[in-house]
Amino acid sequence: MTQTSKVVLVTGASSGIGEATALRLAADGHRVFLGARRTERLEKLAARIAEDGGTAGFRRLDVTDAADVQAFVSAAVERWGRLDVIVNNAGVMPLSPLSELKVAEWDRMLDVNVRGVLHGIAAALPVMRAQGGGHVVNIASVGAYEVVPTAAVYCATKFAVRALSEGLRQESAGDIRVSVVSPGVTESELADSISDPRAREDMKTYRSVAVPASAIADAIAFAVSRPAEVDVNEIVVRPAASAQ
Ligand SMILES: NC(=O)c1ccc[n+]([C@@H]2O[C@H](COP(=O)([O-])OP(=O)(O)OC[C@H]3O[C@@H](n4cnc5c(N)ncnc54)[C@H](OP(=O)(O)O)[C@@H]3O)[C@@H](O)[C@H]2O)c1
Repeated sequence: MTQTSKVVLVTGASSGIGEATALRLAADGHRVFLGARRTERLEKLAARIAEDGGTAGFRRLDVTDAADVQAFVSAAVERWGRLDVIVNNAGVMPLSPLSELKVAEWDRMLDVNVRGVLHGIAAALPVMRAQGGGHVVNIASVGAYEVVPTAAVYCATKFAVRALSEGLRQESAGDIRVSVVSPGVTESELADSISDPRAREDMKTYRSVAVPASAIADAIAFAVSRPAEVDVNEIVVRPAASAQ
């Protein structure tokens, strides 16, 4: 275990970037608490971390339910007595042109990508304030900086994550550190939720050049590892070969 073993919560830890982040932070000596809906995956991941000598717990989590996120945070605090970092990573990306009017998918993106992050902040902030500090790491996207066709709603949710993070940073200066990590195309299951045939086809080309999820985990680990007086505010990580 490292000198400063932290209690780190990761939402959306059952695949992709969340899973890689849990593995990386556990390898760095932190105690990781994993949340997502697919608990069988979380159980396997926690067992793998334990086999590798790390410390992990898990709990079923639906970030769209504020009470569930509260219970997730409480479970980690009951277990380890504190909460140092929450990585609000859970996200969905069912892309489509606005003209297709996939209102249920818009709502799902808003619920998971925006409300999910807000629920994480609401649950973590009082604990961090009470213990005199903490670190909120929100996962945005290159879609938080630019908009492309079929991605209007997804980009809107990620612009919102940046805005929320900047507001939280300003209001919490000196107390809570706030980092936004924005991946470019990264290997994960994210594009599996696209139901629109054209958007799905377009994504095959767009996503053909990708960084491994561990590249994003490295950026998160860097922000977490800085000394308490240093707040890494934003990191954007793209494939070197990617022009977008
Ligand atoms: N991969 C990329 O190219 C890329 C680029 C930019 C930004 N991002 C962002 O990176 C983050 C992680 O995505 P990923 O690429 O690793 O995709 P992923 O492999 O699809 O992982 C998404 C994670 O979110 C979880 N999740 C979805 N809905 C949830 C809910 N209601 N409650 C709790 N967990 C939920 C999923 O777990 P369950 O289904 O088990 O609940 C899964 O663990 C997202 O915020 C995404 O927008 C990814």
